[in-house]
Amino acid sequence: MIENILHKTMFIRILICLLGIIVLINDTEASWEDWWTYDGISGPSFWGLINPQWSLCSKGRRQSPINIEPDKLLFDPHLRPVQVDKHKVAGSLHNTGQFLVFKADKDAKTRVNITGGPLAYHYQFEEIYIHYGMENGHGSEHRVNNYAFPAEIQVYGFNAELYHNMSEAQHKSQGLVALSIMVQLGEKPNPELRIITSVFNKVQYRTQTAPVGHLSLRELLPETDGYMTYEGSTTHPGCWETAVWLILNKPIYISAQELYALRRLMQGTELTPKAPLGNNARPLQGLHHRTIRTNIDFRKPPDSKCPSMTPDTRYRANTWQDDGSLTHNVV
Ligand SMILES: *[C@@H]1O[C@H](CO)[C@@H](O)[C@H](O)[C@H]1NC(C)=O
Ligand SMILES: *[C@@H]1O[C@H](CO)[C@@H](O)[C@H](O)[C@H]1NC(C)=O
Repeated sequence: MIENILHKTMFIRILICLLGIIVLINDTEASWEDWWTYDGISGPSFWGLINPQWSLCSKGRRQSPINIEPDKLLFDPHLRPVQVDKHKVAGSLHNTGQFLVFKADKDAKTRVNITGGPLAYHYQFEEIYIHYGMENGHGSEHRVNNYAFPAEIQVYGFNAELYHNMSEAQHKSQGLVALSIMVQLGEKPNPELRIITSVFNKVQYRTQTAPVGHLSLRELLPETDGYMTYEGSTTHPGCWETAVWLILNKPIYISAQELYALRRLMQGTELTPKAPLGNNARPLQGLHHRTIRTNIDFRKPPDSKCPSMTPDTRYRANTWQDDGSLTHNVV
């Protein structure tokens, strides 16, 4: 009798073990895109080796993210303001195990266009990626004067004049625009961001998806016309060098509670949660003589219609030790 029970428990254990292996195999076979990480042997230094199609991750010289040095910005009087359509989009928030991504509904009738700025084409808004740290001292992928923000929101659009969709555009010339919004801890959190943060508890584990209704991309952006722009890559594999980056010069604000909810998200599934999802920033990449342009002209007197064109314009970054008020600029 006892022997019989022992056999039964052994049998069940072996069965569970086998099931585990089958789940594991299914996991790894799912797709390349599912198992790269931000640390260890599938981390950023190895992305270029994991998949031959991602070789730019190790070989590319126009990679993102970068550190923006304010005193090396080049003022360009021909840069126009960026235009973002104001209507709302519905979509869904998805925990990929690497980050949170919002994807606009494919079958939506209205498209949100991103135009102007340095862009030569119309770009159609498609995805928002959220990168953040487990502590306040780091989290953003881009840095300004070596300062990292607690989080960075990246809005991607694809060139809708030349390509059909994001997956086609991302590895083609002039395929993508990436709008970067720095996120700072503050008293007056962005109300539009709240629409996204309110569903965090539904996407705590990998593969979980939650619908997000009626998000206005325009309202998510900080109130500013100032930006910095350079030519770079996607900050995740395959690191395609097809993105025009626009880094807005003011942050938006997130509350401590929202950050707390963000930091509770996990890389794994409910059964094996693994590690927290945070600290998902790719390390800084070399600038390799690229120019970072800006439309911010600090030398221009407030009532003047003409840009200054003063060759020795200097910029400086804010220090973030103080009160977190809404008037801060990033540079
Ligand atoms: C967005 O851009 C496309 C061109 O790519 C244009 O046909 C469409 O009317 C624009 N949509 C809006 C709402 O402006
Ligand atoms: C993207 O467009 C290409 C070219 O039209 C098409 O082959 C591909 O199936 C599309 N991909 C998705 C995910 O819609």
